Amino acid sequence: MKTRHFLDLSSAGPDGLAGILHDAIERKAARKGLPKGAPDADAPLAGRVLAMVFEKNSTRTRVSFDMAMRQLGGSALVLDAATSQLGRGETVADTARVLSGYCDAIMVRTDDHAKLEEMAAHASVPVINGLTDLSHPCQIVADLQTILESGKALPGLKVAWLGDGNNVLTSIVEAGGLMQFDVVAACPQGYQPPEDVLARGRGRARCVANAREAIEGADVIVTDTWISMGQDHAEQKLAAMMPYQVTPALMAAAKPDACFLHCLPAHRGEEVTAEVIDGPQSLIWPEAENRLHAQKAVLRWCFGQIAAG
Ligand code: CP
Ligand code: NVA
Repeated sequence: MKTRHFLDLSSAGPDGLAGILHDAIERKAARKGLPKGAPDADAPLAGRVLAMVFEKNSTRTRVSFDMAMRQLGGSALVLDAATSQLGRGETVADTARVLSGYCDAIMVRTDDHAKLEEMAAHASVPVINGLTDLSHPCQIVADLQTILESGKALPGLKVAWLGDGNNVLTSIVEAGGLMQFDVVAACPQGYQPPEDVLARGRGRARCVANAREAIEGADVIVTDTWISMGQDHAEQKLAAMMPYQVTPALMAAAKPDACFLHCLPAHRGEEVTAEVIDGPQSLIWPEAENRLHAQKAVLRWCFGQIAAG
């Protein structure tokens, strides 16, 4: 079998992604009630080790991948830039070759997407995107799982994005193209996603200037921090983003059963008000938990346990 890297949602394609989502939902239900650290009955990744390379901070990605490996019967270890030779200039290519000799898969969180691709080009084991400046596919697998579990089918949905045209938006746009839902992103001038990112939506993604236009009749409303990791905390950017804050007044323009998602960490009073993120339409806690279940399925896909698609 060709090494299956999960560099973006398109690595799995629509059928592979559908298989991943199905597996995530089934396995989550099947282990309900077990202690968090207890392995799934079939322990499908027994003996496997995941190396997690972090060049940026993380809470959810780090813990959910570690717990995912434990529940699948395997284990995980962490390398961070500050304490590994990566931080002293050892190349990504050499690191990829070395880790491939010790571990069965590699998860990478880094800045430049090209570093992730370089890791995959030189690794002989699966490489998984744990966030780059360009995209965050694992987050969106969890988001799609959360939407499905809320009772909505993906095809035909209107997903509204408000705020910065960032890495999380790239993966939502790509998901729209693969799973046939519309993405309308409201972003201020200068912070819109580039055309090649919108093109990942295969005709289903567009960008507008007006927040209300995006949210009108939406089924799902998504936002994220206005200042991503590695970006300057610029007052000018915060001011430009203010009209895109997700407020109860804006939420009222969405469908009555619309849900709110946020990958976290959140900044209440910036991209979203406390009333919305802590309110009845918010699904942020199941969304965060689903990182675990979604990534177990991504890992199983990488190891050939879910059809390639
Ligand atoms: N949503 C997300 O990726 O969170 P972390 O940065 O905590 O991993
Ligand atoms: N856009 C955010 C996502 C964090 C999970 C960032 O890149 O910092």
